[in-house]
Amino acid sequence: KTIHLADYQPFTHLLDGVELTFRLAPSATRVVARLAFRPNPARPGRHPLRLDGEGLKLLSCQLDGQPITPKTDKRSLTILAKDLPQGPFTLETEVEIAPDANTALEGLYMSNGMYCTQCEAEGFRKITYYPDRPDVMARFKVRIESDLPVLLSNGNPVAKGKGWAEWDDPWPKPAYLFALVAGDLKARSGTFRTFSGRKVALNVWVRPGDEDRCAYALDSLIRSMKWEEEVYGREYDLDVFNIVAVDDFNMGAMENKGLNIFNSRYVLASPETATDEDYARIEAIIAHEYFHNWTGNRITCRDWFQLCLKEGLTVFRDHQFSGDMRSAAVRRIEDVVALRARQFREDAGPLAHPVRPESFVEINNFYTATVYEKGAEVIGMLKTLVGDAAYKRALDLYFDRHDGDAATIEDWLKVFEDATGRDLSQFKLWYSEAGTPRLKVQDDWTDGVYTLTFAQENPATPGQPTKQPKVIPINVGLLNPNGDEVVPTIMLEMTRESQSFRFEGLAARPIPSILRGFSAPVILDRAVAPSERAFLLAHDTDPFNRWEAGRALAKDVMVDMVTKGAEVSADWLDGVAAVVFDESLDPAFRALCLRLPAEDDMAQTIHAAKRVPDPGRIHAARREMLGALSVRLGERLQRLYDNLDDGAPFSPDAGQAGRRALRIAALGLLTRRDGGKMASLAFARAKSMTESIGALSALLDIRQGAAEVAAFATRWVGDRNVMDKWYSLLISHAEPAEAAPLTVRLTGRDDFDWRNPNRFRSVIGALAGNHAGFHHRSGAGYRLVADWLIRLDPLNPQTAARVSTAFETWPRYDAARRRRAKAELERILTTPTLSPDLREMVERMLAGG
Ligand code: ARG
Ligand code: ZN
Repeated sequence: KTIHLADYQPFTHLLDGVELTFRLAPSATRVVARLAFRPNPARPGRHPLRLDGEGLKLLSCQLDGQPITPKTDKRSLTILAKDLPQGPFTLETEVEIAPDANTALEGLYMSNGMYCTQCEAEGFRKITYYPDRPDVMARFKVRIESDLPVLLSNGNPVAKGKGWAEWDDPWPKPAYLFALVAGDLKARSGTFRTFSGRKVALNVWVRPGDEDRCAYALDSLIRSMKWEEEVYGREYDLDVFNIVAVDDFNMGAMENKGLNIFNSRYVLASPETATDEDYARIEAIIAHEYFHNWTGNRITCRDWFQLCLKEGLTVFRDHQFSGDMRSAAVRRIEDVVALRARQFREDAGPLAHPVRPESFVEINNFYTATVYEKGAEVIGMLKTLVGDAAYKRALDLYFDRHDGDAATIEDWLKVFEDATGRDLSQFKLWYSEAGTPRLKVQDDWTDGVYTLTFAQENPATPGQPTKQPKVIPINVGLLNPNGDEVVPTIMLEMTRESQSFRFEGLAARPIPSILRGFSAPVILDRAVAPSERAFLLAHDTDPFNRWEAGRALAKDVMVDMVTKGAEVSADWLDGVAAVVFDESLDPAFRALCLRLPAEDDMAQTIHAAKRVPDPGRIHAARREMLGALSVRLGERLQRLYDNLDDGAPFSPDAGQAGRRALRIAALGLLTRRDGGKMASLAFARAKSMTESIGALSALLDIRQGAAEVAAFATRWVGDRNVMDKWYSLLISHAEPAEAAPLTVRLTGRDDFDWRNPNRFRSVIGALAGNHAGFHHRSGAGYRLVADWLIRLDPLNPQTAARVSTAFETWPRYDAARRRRAKAELERILTTPTLSPDLREMVERMLAGG
């Protein structure tokens, strides 16, 4: 059933208080819920009370203490209007649920003997009968009865005894922020004193044995709390803040009030088990969930169409935080790489949807790169348009005006309008229209006047054939031919379909640096000579655009190689060499300049140029470029590699991580010349997981490393998170024809526990992410992924639906591949008892093809 934004109505009743009692037992947990309701004045007239509920066994129901028999069906419990008092009343239900049979990992479930919950978006209805919608906010009191030693819920602990604990959350919240954890857990603890003097107890809870892998998460939490006070003036509001690591989790993490629950891979870290990327991601996700306390919890969403209200803003804030903790330029480049890889890809295919969708079948299918990442870009544009000071005023007004509210995008834009006097009705199109705008650029130099002319094109997307021009902030700087900046960054505000901007008083025709810092999520379409790209790679003062020049050059080279059989270009090789050996530049930045565009990104680029991408040729061209680069950089690579090892003890900080990244990039290129000698040595001597994985990748890329692969598995066989890396590394480095057969072999291993979402993604997701392997013309990749989706779907529809986006690019390819991919999607559709989750995804992918 499709839900529409336009159909929103407030709930019939208000909820004044919630008291929950849990008697935990794996296959028969009892949940008693006492809900204090009164009619909602916003819905005049008499209404029945309809509560959501799924998979619940109703044991009893009482209205104001009197037994009553409500109407129930598979999705709800209803009490007729005639049976309800006109004023306040209390409804008490008792239900039985089976957490140990909950394989969907939504609601109350078990993971390694631990009870835990995931309620966003609509999981609370699998725990008890309730108005499970975010605009119904209430104060929760929770009592947990269980013999397990650690019993946690939201808010502050009020009392505990042998076999029970009670929690009270003073802040009204929607049910999706409810959480409960019970288990044999150990904590790493700390404290934080807020700026008004509140002392907060911090705990990171993990399975016994994992305590020594929590330090970085705890440190990241403390830094997030401090940053939030300093930059946004927002203080924490409870006496405790608990984080729990869970091995079986569908997503990354969840911001439940005072009790964040995390996928263990985004908490646990030690130098031996976590890569530098893992450290960066842990820092970002800890911050993200913490920041939700204000943007998400204190101010929540009126309905799920407003998801980007909390997610876009919170992603934007975690990006700001990571930029402050690390190198802002490097973070920005990484964020844009990810945006293009996931969001531009989504926007260009059958699953394209607006940042604020207008309809959905299953809301879980809309936790997408568009809602999150493009949602964050939209906020970045808003900040660029109004300026830093006005952004701050608007945010202060937002927190002031909407604290305690379930708000909308209209509320959000209104605070910006009120704080700045601007009319944002055109800007709002960014929320309602899908698709990535293309920005065509032309320049002209006449009589000492330089003119930049932009034309925007807004492509059709499913359900949205025509679009209107967007407001696009275009940051531009101009360089003179010596490489000096003659016009520092200014913001050009484009509002029309096509628009020109003039620059006077220049002595010579300048070289433009356009869309600095990636000031808008658009595709820049401008034919630029390789020499001009090389010039910007050498001279641009904007680090993002400096990197972008190198990336664009690499893409041009690869496109010419794939489509015209061209050679690797010397412009590109020289340009990269100059940057890589420039000791004045940040090693992390130099490492980024050595990274070639991903194969899927190349396919996207070729498709956007209205050609058909050939995965095999893209794979071969990329490999040829790496080979040529390794020859061009030559002997100097060895020196670079040696000099980057300063022998210092391991630290996860950005500086050291950047040096490791450059060193590993150098090793990858060296390995193409020495047959793997250096990489084998590096593997044997590795002191961190980053180095082990780096060496192993280098070996796998030249089809070596069998001994190292085996040694790694022997050492880490008992460690889930580390073995996930092993699986995905092997599959993502497999040769195109080998990827599917290798995956088949690996799925036969005893430790391939496909019910665990991390393991499923590390294996099946890794195959889907091996571009040339998944799209191999045999069709074996498509078939295997479809087989596994069909198998996972009845147990865990949410993860199956998410991994199914592997197929979203199918319309890009040649007729033979399209036929094969389409046949697999159609086969999935014929599966009996297909979940609504996976059905919605597959139908949308087929419809848009
Ligand atoms: N709100 C969580 C976060 O962004 C994600 C929860 C996603 N849950 C889901 N069922 N899709 O941090
Ligand atoms: Zn979030």
